[in-house]
Amino acid sequence: ASTLAAAAQQSGRYFGTAIASGKLGDGTYTGIANREFDMITAENEMKIDATEPQQGQFNFSSGDRIYNWATQNGKRMRGHTLAWHSQQPDWMRNMSGSSLRQAMINHINGVLNHYKGKIPYWDVVNEAYDDNNGGRRDSNLQRTGNDWIEVAFRTARAADPSAKLCYNDYNIDNWTWAKTQGVYNMVKDFKARGVPIDCVGLQSHFNSQSPYNSNYRTTISQFAALGVDVAITELDIQGGSASTYANVVNDCLAVSRCIGITVWGVRDSDSWLGANTSPLLFDSNGNKKAAYNSVLNALNAA
Ligand code: G3I
Repeated sequence: ASTLAAAAQQSGRYFGTAIASGKLGDGTYTGIANREFDMITAENEMKIDATEPQQGQFNFSSGDRIYNWATQNGKRMRGHTLAWHSQQPDWMRNMSGSSLRQAMINHINGVLNHYKGKIPYWDVVNEAYDDNNGGRRDSNLQRTGNDWIEVAFRTARAADPSAKLCYNDYNIDNWTWAKTQGVYNMVKDFKARGVPIDCVGLQSHFNSQSPYNSNYRTTISQFAALGVDVAITELDIQGGSASTYANVVNDCLAVSRCIGITVWGVRDSDSWLGANTSPLLFDSNGNKKAAYNSVLNALNAA
């Protein structure tokens, strides 16, 4: 196959990218995105601040722009994200306790009511674990009570029973890290107690502080063994090593429940990291990089 999406489809997987609504008028950008990818994540447009800027007043204009572009071009979406400590609108950032808990529930219901049956995967909860100690990250949501994550998942299941519900985080790629073990134990506990969770998203932002490690394949297979799908949701590799990209793809291909890979942007110039870090598969002019060829070859060898 000659595109990332077609190559991934050979093994029943998808290959996705993050899309920014403000770039949908850029023909080079949409040309690459439409040709190469079959799964789309809104980079910012379905987050809490975008979709509920005033409490109880939902705005899906930017999210729908991306949704319409994706569906008109035959692509599916990953919804990102319903409950998160970051990118909360001002009204939510100042809330606490039971009123915040109820606002979280209302937010999940409002967004999923709008997209019900339309978006097959949702990052229900994003980045809820502490970077160092394997426990929960302190946040206004965490201070509403330790059960906030399972309440978010139960609310999402009831609101859209057709959606696969994911927990998504960064620095849970290295199997030996405390944060990875913390999330693993949460998923294990949720499965044991019947809390509805279907998938884990490994964001996979690799850099010198959190480099790719060959135990990544162990991480993917250990999560999968809990009975959840695993998705690589926000892949970028600072420096853009072609061999590291191939390793990531091969690790996903080695685990049948690793269902797809999403890179966090189209061209280097589209990356949140800045083009100078060369983290993606296309250069700033839209040309395929060595990393692109490496990923395509790995997918085709599956
Ligand atoms: O749109 C405004 C613009 O009007 C304003 O002039 C400008 C000035 O700051 O800001 C623009 O908004 C920025 C937005 O990106 C769109 O470019 C925000 O400030 C900026 O904070 C926001 O950054 C996003 C970041 O999440 C916020 O947390 C990045 O684009 C996005 O790539 C990044 O994505 C996250 C995932 O959601 C979760 N995992 C980590 C990942 C990388 O940080």
